[in-house]
Amino acid sequence: MTDTPDLSTTAGKIADLRSRLDEAVNEPEKIAREKQHAKGKMTARERIELLVDPGSFVEFDEYVRHRTTAFGMDRNRPYGDSVVTGIGTIHGRTVAVYSQDFTTFGGSLGEVAGDKIIKIMEFALQGGMPIIGVLDSGGARIQEGVLALSKYGEIFRLNTRSSGVIPQISIIMGPAAGGAVYGPALTDFVIMVDKTSQMFVTGPDVIKTVTGEDVGMEELGGALTHNTRSGVAHYLADDEDDAIDYARTLLGFLPDNNMAEIPGYESGFEWETTDADRTLNAIIPDSANQPYDIHTVIDHVIDDDFLEVQPLFAPNIVIGFGRIEGRSVGIIANQPSQMAGTLNIEAGEKASRFVRFCDAFSIPIVTLVDVPGYLPGTDQEWTGVIRRGAKLIYAYAEATVPLVTVILRKAYGGAYIVMGSKQLGADVNLAWPTAEIAVMGGQGAVNILYRGEIKKAEEAGEDVAAVRTRLANEYTYSVTSPFLAAERGEIDGIIEPANTRVSIAKALRSLRGKRAELPPKKHGNIPL
Ligand code: HXC
Repeated sequence: MTDTPDLSTTAGKIADLRSRLDEAVNEPEKIAREKQHAKGKMTARERIELLVDPGSFVEFDEYVRHRTTAFGMDRNRPYGDSVVTGIGTIHGRTVAVYSQDFTTFGGSLGEVAGDKIIKIMEFALQGGMPIIGVLDSGGARIQEGVLALSKYGEIFRLNTRSSGVIPQISIIMGPAAGGAVYGPALTDFVIMVDKTSQMFVTGPDVIKTVTGEDVGMEELGGALTHNTRSGVAHYLADDEDDAIDYARTLLGFLPDNNMAEIPGYESGFEWETTDADRTLNAIIPDSANQPYDIHTVIDHVIDDDFLEVQPLFAPNIVIGFGRIEGRSVGIIANQPSQMAGTLNIEAGEKASRFVRFCDAFSIPIVTLVDVPGYLPGTDQEWTGVIRRGAKLIYAYAEATVPLVTVILRKAYGGAYIVMGSKQLGADVNLAWPTAEIAVMGGQGAVNILYRGEIKKAEEAGEDVAAVRTRLANEYTYSVTSPFLAAERGEIDGIIEPANTRVSIAKALRSLRGKRAELPPKKHGNIPL
């Protein structure tokens, strides 16, 4: 028999607190563990414990209970409702967290669960700290109707208000169905766990009824789908631990808020050109059409590991975070080994959002250019390459953060301008001697400029292919040379590839005090 605490004494009140904490947190947690572990999943609290530094979590609102009476809900009023919220530290820096508890009403969001999330989001916004949401939920609580929907509305509004002020990260560890998907979609980064997370606006049953399509939950909205096809997700985690690890690593690159300094670490930066740097002198193949992996260049210019974002979506452009001289940078680079590095709609949108994120949080951007142009085709034109492709121009042109661009090889046509050109506002533009900057490549130019010569060669029975190649080479050497751009001051310098790492570091160092402002306006109107 447990003694009833004597509430007239301090000791009794403390004993009462302990017993209530057991009832609200410890006992339900034991049950939640059994249920979630049976499914190979962690509980909401276990996920938080793994996410934040050990022992740093401070829970909010563990005594909150719903007030719904409909459908016999008044007989089941668990403490804390269906979400665990609070603050903790990651790498010693404070973050706010909420983690949905699927074992309580399927993690569904009713009035009080919504209020808990809103409270912690407001706390994060006021305090200028990142917020991480761990989602595992059946969506709006069916028993609570409009009250549940209205809480989603408030959450979406707060997501939007927080956008560009504090970093927002969503980790999807179960279902996210219906309109509830728009919460994560409004955040900066969406991490999904392979096979155990799904996001969709309308589920397989509704789709079958309305369109007759047969599609499974995983194919429709699984982690692989959203990482490769839709571009909704930014990282495909192997399991829950991997998802949490990615979120922690990501936060190490980000400032706490838009007014805070970007994180800096002791780096022991090597200011002399090293043997490793010199291997870059051999990276560009002699043949213009031969690909190489841009990751090799990225790995050379950053201090340590590259954290790639959306690696599986539009792989023809590579985006992610690295550190140079110990300070965070955003890297955007064409990938010649995928679709020859051409720009298409997906690549443009992927890069635009990344530019805007970096700009919002004062993370300098390094752009590495090797782009033969836009991907041609009716599919691209009809799905809006004009409207959607304009986003990347807008994003770069609007950015006030330090921008350093290096042209490695091809920089043709509109794609030259789009990829962080000086004219769009980049601060330091460099080129390798292998750079080719022109309206179009040699082969394309020959078709237009030398149509007469080609025809004559045909009529004279000459080797047309050889003539074409000779003319294309002449064009390439004479018109596309980076020295022409340098002569006009369109680029600031031509560097040996081996000097790239140090040149970028010097440029970034010189730009640390950059001040740039946009004309006053309510907001711009990016082509959406
Ligand atoms: C209340 C819910 C619930 C919900 C699940 N549960 N979803 N309770 N409201 N939305 C409860 C179940 O009744 C069950 O309770 C427990 O959670 C576990 O659910 P199961 O179905 O047993 O789990 P599982 O088989 O894993 O299936 C998970 C699921 C499924 C795929 C999420 O539960 C499901 O389809 N739920 C409904 C999803 C949905 O349509 N939600 C509304 C989306 S619209 P017991 O007591 O049996 O353990 C929406 C609008 C948002 O969210 C609008 C924003 C603007």
